[in-house]
Amino acid sequence: MLRKISQFSFFVLWGRLALSERFKVLTPKEHVVAILNQAVVLECSFTVSEELPLGNVVINWQRDENREVVHSYYYGKDQLSKQNPHYSGKTSLFPEEFKNGNASLRLEGVNPEHSGVYLCYVGNARKGDNGTITVVLAAFYNEPRLIIKQEPCGTSLMFESSGYPNADISWYIGDNKDVSFLSNTSYQQDADGLYTIQSVVEVNNLKYNTTCNFVLRNAVVNQTISRSFTLITEGCETSMSKPHYINLTNYIVGSILMIISLAVLLCLYKYFKANNREVIVPSSL
Ligand SMILES: *[C@@H]1O[C@H](CO)[C@@H](O)[C@H](O)[C@H]1NC(C)=O
Ligand SMILES: *[C@@H]1O[C@H](CO)[C@@H](O)[C@H](O)[C@H]1NC(C)=O
Ligand SMILES: *[C@@H]1O[C@H](CO)[C@@H](O)[C@H](O)[C@H]1NC(C)=O
Ligand SMILES: *[C@@H]1O[C@H](CO)[C@@H](O)[C@H](O)[C@H]1NC(C)=O
Ligand SMILES: *[C@@H]1O[C@H](CO)[C@@H](O)[C@H](O)[C@H]1NC(C)=O
Repeated sequence: MLRKISQFSFFVLWGRLALSERFKVLTPKEHVVAILNQAVVLECSFTVSEELPLGNVVINWQRDENREVVHSYYYGKDQLSKQNPHYSGKTSLFPEEFKNGNASLRLEGVNPEHSGVYLCYVGNARKGDNGTITVVLAAFYNEPRLIIKQEPCGTSLMFESSGYPNADISWYIGDNKDVSFLSNTSYQQDADGLYTIQSVVEVNNLKYNTTCNFVLRNAVVNQTISRSFTLITEGCETSMSKPHYINLTNYIVGSILMIISLAVLLCLYKYFKANNREVIVPSSL
């Protein structure tokens, strides 16, 4: 009942002040990128004219999808009784800028609930105009943590990083050979809305020194993280066959030495035996 009366007086006061077609509301940007937990300004401007005295101005920011109230201003002050709790204590206008036709909204502590389409309505109680702007949420990815797992005949490379939204991942091995199709990337959303990305690639039969490179790209904020590193490896086959080769050489050399030694011993034995006989024979005679 009380609300009906106040709505009625609202119309009595301003109902006569119909705005002409010249009155326009503009949202200069189609979308704005908001960084998680930071503040963002949703720009909106309106035609300044005597048709709309600032004392009569109605500014209403709503979500376009469901008409949730984000921030309202009329009767010369903020009216937040119908504000959606997701926006409680986080929104403000720039009243000192109204005279310049500025109805922009500042939103603080941006979280995933805040991404979507916003409607900026400016007018009087009877007539007005509106524009829309889309809030795109983003968070820069942090420095990736790299894990290299060495297996008997292969290597598993993995990194982990958190940000928003999902990023594109590429892997390159050796001469910039794209091996992304071999990788396995999983995404997990944390309580604060961030995505934690884990990307794994298995590489086998690495030749000596191999340069590996991964690229993480968050297109929304134009962020690119590219990290490369070199795996220094002796190679599976070489390290396995080398001891064999050494053993075989040792065996052959050892055998030859043994045969030579035996031959020399045999010769010496025969020589001494022959000498002895020659010596012995005359002496026995
Ligand atoms: C309105 O004013 C605020 C604060 O000075 C500014 O950040 C914003 O860009 C202005 N918006 C327009 C549409 O001029
Ligand atoms: C927004 O303005 C358009 C015309 O510019 C109008 O058709 C539409 O009904 C308005 N929407 C709201 C919610 O005021
Ligand atoms: C990727 O990882 C998941 C979970 O670890 C596993 O179930 C899946 O088979 C893997 N896919 C490939 C192509 O390796
Ligand atoms: C591999 O890298 C190491 C250290 O940089 C270097 O000493 C070695 O010569 C390299 N081996 C090859 C086959 O390039
Ligand atoms: C994104 O970054 C690249 C290189 O850092 C730059 O050339 C390009 O202009 C940037 N694009 C945008 C939309 O900021």
